Amino acid sequence: MKRRTFISIAGGSILAAGGIGYLISDKNNFVRSDLKISSNDKLLLTDEQEILLLASMAPSGHNTQPWFVRRIAPFHWIICNDRSKWLPAVDPSQRETMLSIGAFIQNITYAASYYGYCCEWKTLARGNQDEQIEEVVLSKLDDIPRFDISKIKKRRTVRSNFQSDQLKEDDLQSLTNGEEAYFHYFPRGTSAFAWLNEKTVAANQKQIYRDAAEKELANWIRFTGKDAAQHGDGLTPASMEMTGLTAWIVRNFYNKSSVMGKNFRKQGLDAVKTQVSQSAGWLLITSKDQTVASLLETGKRLQRLLLKIREKGIAIHPMTQILEEAPFSLKINKAMNITTPIQLVLRCGYVNEYPDPVSIRKPVNSFVRI
Ligand SMILES: Cc1cc2nc3c(=O)[nH]c(=O)nc-3n(C[C@H](O)[C@H](O)[C@H](O)COP(=O)(O)O)c2cc1C
Repeated sequence: MKRRTFISIAGGSILAAGGIGYLISDKNNFVRSDLKISSNDKLLLTDEQEILLLASMAPSGHNTQPWFVRRIAPFHWIICNDRSKWLPAVDPSQRETMLSIGAFIQNITYAASYYGYCCEWKTLARGNQDEQIEEVVLSKLDDIPRFDISKIKKRRTVRSNFQSDQLKEDDLQSLTNGEEAYFHYFPRGTSAFAWLNEKTVAANQKQIYRDAAEKELANWIRFTGKDAAQHGDGLTPASMEMTGLTAWIVRNFYNKSSVMGKNFRKQGLDAVKTQVSQSAGWLLITSKDQTVASLLETGKRLQRLLLKIREKGIAIHPMTQILEEAPFSLKINKAMNITTPIQLVLRCGYVNEYPDPVSIRKPVNSFVRI
């Protein structure tokens, strides 16, 4: 929907709502700092709670948070795959679920080091659908390099206002350091960049007008503050970077059926076109193969990358639709001249202002099973 159309609807909505209506409406975006995160779960030791809270700050597709933790004993856990969080319409093989769980696992290792624990990991899963993914035992060590957990707390996905300036050579080097074989960067001006821009818009168009995918998205949108507080997961107007009047309208007048309507779909595609028009380049992450171990390693690699970018003023926006929609998914390797599996398509660029995280999370006790 064009901004002007939106504003005229908003004007009408405000008049219809009237002054009192506005006062009792959902007036503010619900954001992470509104969450009441309690750290008094008696079933877990304090360090366990803190580490798992930090782990849960990991990114995940539609913010489903597709993990749970089975606690065998203090500091002895099995990281599990929560099938109720799968996204069958866009991720039918749970490939992205594994990437998200990999990011969660990386956060555990970093958060544990901050509290002085070393992690010993063992992969249990053989397929992306297995429930038990990895087993971990945390042991206290005296001399362990401590990760700066403010990086975990401050990481967020940024989607708007990317600059087109090239990424500095030094920055790129330090982001991919030691893992160059898995990163492929295509700056603005190259033919691969143009291909990724064009096909990202086309793949989004295909996905937005595919009812199963749009319905799945609708199920993960938390329109109101009340919804967001109740669920602690999914996409909120704030996490979709809606602010002001637009966000107010969405919070108060939109619901799942609006997402299936013409306006919401068009507005979504317009947003994608604007996003794609702004960037320094595309970064692709590949894996050795498609095994569970490789997918988890790729999710960890993604998280290591994401935890380095804020301090450099770089924003990274995963845009995975090319990998989710045929025929684009079948053509990308040839177009990029890459032979190994491409697991992530990331739009990158410097931003002037780095906003605080707003996406919500579930409380730790809701994803730990004793
Ligand atoms: C595997 C994976 C795929 C994702 N794909 C997309 C995507 O296609 N478009 C998008 O806007 N965000 C995408 N994201 C970002 C998530 O929406 C985001 O991590 C989640 O909403 C939580 O927000 P946060 O990263 O700000 O904490 C993806 C994240 C992951 C881990």
